[in-house]
Amino acid sequence: MVLKFFVGGNWKMNGDKKSLGDLITTLNTASLNDETEVVCGAPTVYLDFARSNLDARIGVAAQNCYKVAKGAFTGEISPVMIKDCGVEWVILGHSERRHVFGESDELIGQKVAHALESGLGVIACIGEKLEEREAGTTEEVVYAQTQAIADNVKDWSKVVLAYEPVWAIGTGKTASPEQAQEVHEKLREWMRANVSEAVADSVRIIYGGSVTGANCKELGSQNDVDGFLVGGASLKPEFVDIINARA
Ligand code: PGA
Repeated sequence: MVLKFFVGGNWKMNGDKKSLGDLITTLNTASLNDETEVVCGAPTVYLDFARSNLDARIGVAAQNCYKVAKGAFTGEISPVMIKDCGVEWVILGHSERRHVFGESDELIGQKVAHALESGLGVIACIGEKLEEREAGTTEEVVYAQTQAIADNVKDWSKVVLAYEPVWAIGTGKTASPEQAQEVHEKLREWMRANVSEAVADSVRIIYGGSVTGANCKELGSQNDVDGFLVGGASLKPEFVDIINARA
């Protein structure tokens, strides 16, 4: 079954009002495949700016949020605040949150539960490190990460699963289409065995890690690759080509 293609841009901690404003103008005026769902992940301080300026056909995501609605949690933001800015999505469990900021599977699971209960859509990220791939433990690692997410999801219609091998993120070492397809297919089978047939058939599993305008078509033509999460290239006009990978 062909699922609605989903392309997320993860701007990470990049840009300013000038450069993001230029990017937003490029996206707003581009011809975008309307069969593709597009969501841009903006830095917290620019969520309002991004939502106010991006065309309504383009979604906006926060790059993180906390596990409760409010309180004494200096520096954190909550799903209700994200929604208050008109923003519909949040990226959770990104490898930089896991490995730079030490977020555990448990914390990510709690965040996923709270974000979904609050009505946000969640782009939930998983992926193995290079040493894990080399040790042959890729499946074990991504299944455990997916389990910690799945334990906290009741409604999968608001979840997109992003497989992002850590060794491919920001390195220019994209997974080959075969490597991506292999893990995506296994994840879908895992969903079939551990969640349900219906969820396995309907959840979008997107690939992230050095996706570019040059490699997106081949990656996007794989059976179980339902879109992308794009870092570096999402800050460039080439993001438009990635959005249109299936056009
Ligand atoms: P990259 O980042 O495209 O720059 O590799 C992907 C991501 O971290 O989501």
